[in-house]
Amino acid sequence: MSARLPARLLVTGGAGFIGSAFVRRVLDRHPDVSVTVLDKLTYAGNLANLAEVEGDPRFTFVQGDIADAEVVDGMAADVDAIVNFAAESHVDRSIEEPDAFIRTDVYGTFVLLEAARRHGHERYLQISTDEVYGNVPTGSSTEADPLHPRSPYSASKSGGDLLVGAYFTTYGLPTLLTRASNNFGPHQYPEKVVPLFITNAIDDEPLPLYGDGLQVRDWLYVDDHCDALEVVLERGEPGMTYNVGGGNEITNIDLTRRVLELLGKPMTLVRRVEDRAGHDRRYSVDCSRLRALGWEPAHSFEDALRATVDWYRDREDWWRPLKSGEYRAYYARQYGARLEAGTTIT
Ligand code: NAD
Ligand code: DAU
Repeated sequence: MSARLPARLLVTGGAGFIGSAFVRRVLDRHPDVSVTVLDKLTYAGNLANLAEVEGDPRFTFVQGDIADAEVVDGMAADVDAIVNFAAESHVDRSIEEPDAFIRTDVYGTFVLLEAARRHGHERYLQISTDEVYGNVPTGSSTEADPLHPRSPYSASKSGGDLLVGAYFTTYGLPTLLTRASNNFGPHQYPEKVVPLFITNAIDDEPLPLYGDGLQVRDWLYVDDHCDALEVVLERGEPGMTYNVGGGNEITNIDLTRRVLELLGKPMTLVRRVEDRAGHDRRYSVDCSRLRALGWEPAHSFEDALRATVDWYRDREDWWRPLKSGEYRAYYARQYGARLEAGTTIT
């Protein structure tokens, strides 16, 4: 077990929400580590997320696709490990248009694993999700539980996870796999519920709450997730899977209430709208394996949610440009009719 980070990291999807937080953190805390980011810059990728590290001589950015074997192989030759964040990540978009999810989350993962194998990498870390376990009515999922994905997003992430396991077993590639719960924090694209509801509320726009709003998610602050990834990269056992959860299970309606309270906005902004198809009621992960490596979340949910709300309040320069163009068309398709038919909470 090595207790250090590999010296040269290839971070795929490093211009997205969690990947960019990881890159900023690694460069800040590890003077001996260099980072190359490979990112396709889809609608969710944003170079502004990496502005802080732009001038760092240990940082390189390449725009490209993880499903492009030639590009990946060339880049993999010059690094010691791959950390794969690159994915299509939004469940609602996977329901609308699954193709890109299969191509990136399954085939793209295969391309990265092949490159890691060919170049004899020290480590391969795949960032996955608690959604692969499917709906969890009671108790918590352990890493030994079977996969029951129910959306095109979670099915494609499960495909990636299975390939990672196969590359460890078949080729002895020193893989690591993490499955995290719902992340929130600065720099999250405003299609996900936390930044969507914060930014809509700032503008006094309706907050589209799916179904009865009693679905449960376990909220994990993005910095605590990145801390866990660092621990796993340094001290994780090859071939192992590690669940990462925040220990903050709350219903969506409770989350909505807290966001509105922090902004001093009324619950009348909430619109109950038609539910997401196949909507999983609850996720919950048992993180004892990761805790045994010495990790635990450092942020309280209340403080982290307040910091997140404050960040969006201060950084309209970051999110306003994102809520235009393609986003407006997506928003109209996803929410237009549902909002018209929606009801307010009395
Ligand atoms: P995100 O959508 O914010 O970022 C994804 C990044 O990947 C973007 O920068 C995008 O440009 C890039 N990308 C997409 N397709 C690509 C391709 N073919 N080649 C190269 N780059 C590509 O996602 P996120 O929320 O930061 O999630 C990062 C990872 O963490 C994903 O694998 C996701 O499944 C996983 N995850 C997310 C959460 C969460 O709550 N957000 C929780 C658990 C796991
Ligand atoms: O659990 C980990 C997963 O969390 C990650 O793997 C995904 O990449 C990430 O997107 C997230 O998935 P969710 O589907 O849970 O996140 P989302 O923010 O889309 O939704 C959170 C909850 O809020 C979910 O129960 C659906 C609900 N919701 C969401 C949106 C966008 C609403 O009620 N209204 C909305 O408009």
